[in-house]
Amino acid sequence: MVYRVQGVVVREKNAPATIETVIVPDPGPGEAVVDIITSGVCHTDLHYKQGGISDEFPFLLGHEATGRVAAVGEGVTEVAVGDRVILNWRAVCGQCRACAKGQAQYCFNTHNATQKMTLEDGTELSAALGIGAFIEKTLVAAGQCTKIDEESDAAAVGLLGCGVMAGIGAAINTGAIALGESVAVIGCGGVGTAAIAGAQLAGATTIIAVDIDDAKLEQARSFGATHTVNSRGTDPVAAIQELTGGFGADVVIDAVGRPETYRQAFYARDLAGRVVLVGVPTPEMTLELPLLDVFGRGGTLKSSWYGDCLPSRDFAMLIDQYKLGRLDLDGFVTERIGLGDVEAAFAKMADGTVLRSVVEL
Ligand SMILES: NC(=O)c1ccc[n+]([C@@H]2O[C@H](COP(=O)([O-])OP(=O)(O)OC[C@H]3O[C@@H](n4cnc5c(N)ncnc54)[C@H](O)[C@@H]3O)[C@@H](O)[C@H]2O)c1
Ligand SMILES: [Zn+2]
Ligand SMILES: [Zn+2]
Repeated sequence: MVYRVQGVVVREKNAPATIETVIVPDPGPGEAVVDIITSGVCHTDLHYKQGGISDEFPFLLGHEATGRVAAVGEGVTEVAVGDRVILNWRAVCGQCRACAKGQAQYCFNTHNATQKMTLEDGTELSAALGIGAFIEKTLVAAGQCTKIDEESDAAAVGLLGCGVMAGIGAAINTGAIALGESVAVIGCGGVGTAAIAGAQLAGATTIIAVDIDDAKLEQARSFGATHTVNSRGTDPVAAIQELTGGFGADVVIDAVGRPETYRQAFYARDLAGRVVLVGVPTPEMTLELPLLDVFGRGGTLKSSWYGDCLPSRDFAMLIDQYKLGRLDLDGFVTERIGLGDVEAAFAKMADGTVLRSVVEL
């Protein structure tokens, strides 16, 4: 048996995202078919559309989702039909050298579904981040389903499936922010704002939000930013130094991922401080820095894939923080839209008018 469902596809580089009929196979061994409830629009979906991630078009977009397991294949024990889940893109293998060292958050062999979803003419689709969630039903590896509670709002907690987890994890896991530290976050979209919320959860006392959009900066204050800098008119390095006793922040998180923002992050941190790159660069970007500065300033330069999270450990913990009122996941949901509105949501993302548009199915 196969399912014929509607999903949002980009056929070629920069083509508009359109609704197409997609054929979803019955789950094979180790796979699950999931009815999607909500799926957030992440900047990474736009990167896919623009050909910035790979050129394996056509793509089935969407990857930040809550759903309900509709069917499971042979040998699946992780989840059962009817479970409410967040989809994740880190189904760890348990066997690679990272997993063997007890560092499954760096797993080098994460699982996706083995079978492919296709268009009606049989063309295989590449699912964004191995998920593809702007669709009525999707096919994933069972390990990509993380069971969650029944009561929390699907649109809000589903954002933990990518951007919000990436941002919070960049602060808490990768940045290892400690009580009383100073933090600057460059780029206050969904990911950067989540990094600000994560810095606050971790007990940072100076949290500086940097963006080129005043509305984003204003919003960042409600998630815990103590200071804001509009880097369109102000040098963010000098501003961050001034706000941190002349030295720079203990941790600077680049949630944009461009050479100029990385350079700002590099110089805006204190000596021996940490830089965390969580924004995703595109293939043509390069960076040149005086090697003596890399050496002389000490400290650590880290990248954060998915906030170095472990879905099984972090999703439920963060939903608990949300329920306790310590993490405002509702505040990330700017608008709730339909499957046909994804292209318009990309335009709003570019205009800076939304933190997250969330597709409801
Ligand atoms: N590392 C990961 O695992 C991971 C996960 C999800 C998303 N991402 C990446 O994180 C980045 C941000 O994603 P998002 O969904 O928050 O995007 P977004 O479009 O919602 O936000 C980007 C923000 O950056 C600001 N900005 C743009 N250029 C800037 C500049 N030069 N200086 C300061 N601010 C600037 C924009 O005004 C906007 O507020 C993207 O590159 C995305 O692909 C990474
Ligand atoms: Zn592994
Ligand atoms: Zn994403």
